[in-house]
Amino acid sequence: MPLISYKDARPWAKAIREAVLLKRMPPWFADPRYGKFSNDHSLSEEQIKTVAAWADAGAPEGDPQSAPKPQAFTDGWTIPTPDKVLEMSGEFDVPASGKIDYQYIIVPTGFTEDKWVQMVEVRPSNRAVVHHSVIFLREPGSKWLSHAQPGVPVSGGPADTGGAGNEILSIYTPGMVPDVWEPGTAKQVKAGTDLVIQMHYTANGKAGKDKTKVGVIFAKQPPTKRVLTLLPANTGFRIPPGDPNYRVDTRVRIPNPTEIISFFPHMHLRGKAFEYRVTYPTGETQTLLRVDPYKFDWQLSYQVEKPVVLPAGTVFECSAWFDNSPNNPNNPDPAKEVRWGEQSWEEMMIGFVDVAIDATWTRRDFFTPKPAGAGN
Ligand code: HEM
Repeated sequence: MPLISYKDARPWAKAIREAVLLKRMPPWFADPRYGKFSNDHSLSEEQIKTVAAWADAGAPEGDPQSAPKPQAFTDGWTIPTPDKVLEMSGEFDVPASGKIDYQYIIVPTGFTEDKWVQMVEVRPSNRAVVHHSVIFLREPGSKWLSHAQPGVPVSGGPADTGGAGNEILSIYTPGMVPDVWEPGTAKQVKAGTDLVIQMHYTANGKAGKDKTKVGVIFAKQPPTKRVLTLLPANTGFRIPPGDPNYRVDTRVRIPNPTEIISFFPHMHLRGKAFEYRVTYPTGETQTLLRVDPYKFDWQLSYQVEKPVVLPAGTVFECSAWFDNSPNNPNNPDPAKEVRWGEQSWEEMMIGFVDVAIDATWTRRDFFTPKPAGAGN
């Protein structure tokens, strides 16, 4: 429902009061004790009190003369007009019901030179059937999905889920804001790269069609920092039946200096909470983000206000908590032991994190530890 005007909002006053008091709305689930995020649109205690007081007072209109102008929302791109739009060549038919394997659609970029991308927006044409979309960058020479014809969707298996080591350009989930990196920080797309668009369509009771597009804006000058999306994950867990608070961890040692720019925790229907922590080489520890409660319906990226600088040797840890008990209203089957899998009734544990490294370094350079004193 729109909440643009007084007339729109008035009938929802009670529901608005409840949603803001319980912090279900606006959707934002970062524990305020840790980190500061530039896309944090949560309300202050003062604002919450004001909204609740308005509802309690019978939701009066106030003076219409002094009302602010209604917010105008754009129907098209949220980013400025893209320099290049890459899209699926045809519509995908989403059935009304049943399980749909992840679909992979190859879209050649046609780039004849290496490009630096400053902004990316992923726009499904039919958001009601898109559970998520991951845009992978398949560089020339990669054999991944080499059997697929450009433009013709192919079903993928579990080995394809993580993109077979290929870089990610962007991720779309409902409520996601486009990727807009600071000037001087950009993602590289090599000449001859193909987009591999991973689409997770979910049947919602009504058949539909979707044609997702990706709009990009190129950097105006060569950047000094390159953005990489890393995906620390734990794929080997077994969540016992009925367990209300099962913890799964993953940890990696950061091989070279870097800076964190955003987080994107990912679990499925049993996901309950997610946490990112670091232990610096000095031994000092810090919690960078705690998403609690984690909501499957609201998979948000958390963009840090100031980059978090990590020296080489920092230990980067993620913890996920799962609720496989009957108390979890989203739990498809509390009697099941749950393992890693692509579908929502299976589970995942991925602590996506976007980092910025020196623009002259490749992904491989970043993952190769340098001998002490080697610089950078
Ligand atoms: C102060 C700001 C906001 C208020 C007061 C508000 C209010 C509400 C209320 C009252 C409901 C529940 C309706 C019901 O009872 O069924 C709701 C649901 C919803 N809202 Fe908001 N909302 C806000 C911000 C947002 C934002 C920023 C988004 C999108 C990014 C959003 C997207 C949704 C969606 C998709 C639902 C339905 C699914 C769900 O309940 O999670 N809302 N909102």
